[in-house]
Amino acid sequence: MIDKIDRLKAEISALTAKDAAEVEALRIKYISKKGEVSLLFNDFRSVPADQKRAVGQALNELKNLATEKINTLREALGNNDGFDTSSMDLTRTPSAMPLGSRHPLSIVRNDIVSIFSRLGFTVAEGPEIEDDWHVFSSLNFAPDHPARDMQDTFFIKRNPDVLLRTHTSSVQSRVMEHSQPPIRIICPGRVYRNEAISARAHCFFHQVEALYVDKNVSFADLRQTLLYFAREMFGPETKIRLRPSYFPFTEPSAEMDISCNLCGGKGCSFCKHTGWVEILGCGMVDPNVLESCGIDSKIYSGYALGMGVERITNLKYQVNDLRLFSENDVRFLEEFQSAR
Ligand code: DAH
Repeated sequence: MIDKIDRLKAEISALTAKDAAEVEALRIKYISKKGEVSLLFNDFRSVPADQKRAVGQALNELKNLATEKINTLREALGNNDGFDTSSMDLTRTPSAMPLGSRHPLSIVRNDIVSIFSRLGFTVAEGPEIEDDWHVFSSLNFAPDHPARDMQDTFFIKRNPDVLLRTHTSSVQSRVMEHSQPPIRIICPGRVYRNEAISARAHCFFHQVEALYVDKNVSFADLRQTLLYFAREMFGPETKIRLRPSYFPFTEPSAEMDISCNLCGGKGCSFCKHTGWVEILGCGMVDPNVLESCGIDSKIYSGYALGMGVERITNLKYQVNDLRLFSENDVRFLEEFQSAR
């Protein structure tokens, strides 16, 4: 036995290895569970009692020698993974971890909310799964009024009273039925319409709604708020114009254009050479809407406006394919790294 141990000692002392794989092979050959050194320990039981002490000592020496040898071989290769670190500068500052970026729609929604909050508006939210009353009836859409067709609605099959909201105007009635003026709210949120998905239409998109109800709120207040918003959002040179329009929940109603922020109003392909681009709908809250929500229309008046966040983002950053917003292509998202 002692002879065998001495032979192995000599053999192990002379070992060499070229790479990590070779070191690993030697480790398995000698000191793994079934390696030659470990097997000798199994034979220890049959060693006569008077030799046990000497053999035990020699076996332990052999085991230590083998373990140390394998470690030395491994270290000589560089590090434990077998990489050669001699050409690496381990003191070098690591390159910065890439930071995530905000989604362009979040950037623009936050901008809109921040502009209106400077005017005293606070954020209100409502459910995306709504009922007919809050999306249509309370907002003066008559049951068979063709205006309902303006918005292609997703209804729930088993209950036509339950639907996905088609606009954030539903939050207006939710807030008005629970509070009395003065009311000054801004409602950002996702809305749904039954549209085929293309560059210009999507089955979901985002809107921001604003509502102001108080005594003596006039169209002039609305116009001034719109001008402030347009200039804060698109720059101090921005001009606005209001065109008469129709919405069931406002009377009078208007659509607002801003001077094209790409050509400064001179006319380009983006504004179809008109110098103007449409950005939102607005108007004075119809007295019927105030009354259905429990607000006395003889004492109070208000204005409301609603805009599409994708539309504003398109104008600000020239993203003209709606599908980009929900595809989550990192190359697209990274373009907004420096935007905020
Ligand atoms: N709800 C309208 C839409 O989805 C947008 C809108 C227009 C909101 C006029 C308003 C408003 O508050 O006064 O197209």
